[in-house]
Amino acid sequence: MGTMKILILLLLSALLPVTEITAQHLKQRRDLTEHERTEHHRFDDVEKWARVFEDTARDEWQMPNEVIETIGIAKGTVIADIGSATGYFPVRFARVATEGRVYGIDIESNLVDYLNARAAREKLPNLKSILGDPDDPKIPERVDLVFICDTYHHIHKRGKYFENLKKYMQPEGRLVIVDFRKGDLPVGPKDEMKLAEEEVVRELTVVGYQLQPNSAQLPYQYVLVFDLNVNQPE
Ligand SMILES: C[S@@+](CC[C@H](N)C(=O)[O-])C[C@H]1O[C@@H](n2cnc3c(N)ncnc32)[C@H](O)[C@@H]1O
Repeated sequence: MGTMKILILLLLSALLPVTEITAQHLKQRRDLTEHERTEHHRFDDVEKWARVFEDTARDEWQMPNEVIETIGIAKGTVIADIGSATGYFPVRFARVATEGRVYGIDIESNLVDYLNARAAREKLPNLKSILGDPDDPKIPERVDLVFICDTYHHIHKRGKYFENLKKYMQPEGRLVIVDFRKGDLPVGPKDEMKLAEEEVVRELTVVGYQLQPNSAQLPYQYVLVFDLNVNQPE
């Protein structure tokens, strides 16, 4: 066997494990759902996320009209949607709060640009998307409602974050969290990424939010409505 042949064989045998690992990795990734692939990485591929978040099949289980009715949004309500992404809820809010303002807050500038272009295209002058910081949503005014769908678990240092959030809320303002229940569901992130309803309530109660009853009944998600606990000592 010539020297060149030996060298090629050595090179191929060195590459083989890498090829195997890559193939195995690709297979594992294919086996994951779209939502599972969102964990702990960025949401900067706008086209891809628009297909996922705006999929009309989502309406069946997300039930956006029921959510809006439960929350009770009026024409003049001023709303901030944190983790607004491609605008699934903010666009619907803006169609109801026609005399109010809707701020879509996200930390991905591509998504912010996308939602602003969508607001212009869909003629919603009351909808504006804004780039927030991971630890501060930077909402431009005090709002009546802060809405957070499928984003709560992405926020780090939540105690500090939600303490700081109060400065952007009207004294009568409300905070609504929609997120996936624990358990094996056909949609949503892996179970270990989710936070149980009780955990969210516990975390937010500690920093001065008060759970209020509501009538929402979604198949896979809980809807938690909080107001500010005025009796909480500073
Ligand atoms: C799973 S998506 C939810 C999208 C949207 N709420 C919906 O229901 O279609 C999470 C979004 O939250 C954004 N995000 C993650 N951490 C954030 C933070 N600290 N502040 C604001 N947005 C955040 C991500 O960029 C992404 O667009």
